[in-house]
Amino acid sequence: MKNIVLIGFMGTGKTTIGRRLAGRLGRPFIDTDAAIEEITGKTIPQIFARDGVIRFRSEEALLVKKLACREGLVIATGGGVVLNPENVRLLKENGVLIAFTAEPEVICQRVKNLKDRPLLGKGDQREAIDRLLKERDGVYDIAAHTINTGCCSQEQAVDEIIRFLNQEGLLT
Ligand code: S3P
Repeated sequence: MKNIVLIGFMGTGKTTIGRRLAGRLGRPFIDTDAAIEEITGKTIPQIFARDGVIRFRSEEALLVKKLACREGLVIATGGGVVLNPENVRLLKENGVLIAFTAEPEVICQRVKNLKDRPLLGKGDQREAIDRLLKERDGVYDIAAHTINTGCCSQEQAVDEIIRFLNQEGLLT
């Protein structure tokens, strides 16, 4: 059974919707950021601050390699996972990619009280979000299906994913 891999920018709902989806399907749920924190014994901001972004990306790539060997998982990825083509290749090999999008103002609203997104920095979050979205233009357009989570409830997003997977015969 293929893994269901959720991709998309920060604040698009990969973790919350992914957990619900896994619950509905009775499948194990893995959040790559949480798994990296567990493996390294450090929080994401600590990894970025102490070891740097390159180290974070290499932990992420190592984890993707391990997860791509497993089956039947729901995986919520970090927003930068798809920047590495090798990650994409591995995740696609054994999984179906579902992308989440949301308008910049929705993303801004969702991440505004979070202190654990080092790439958004300490300055104007909206500016950082706009810059990153521009830099990443098109990178999430590799999914089999895309859902704008700013326009639906979490439950509706889960329904939509299940509908799509059923239609593609990926749940049997
Ligand atoms: C990142 C997104 C974060 C986390 C890290 C880097 C990114 O995950 O992996 O801060 O490069 O977009 P979420 O997408 O779960 O916020």
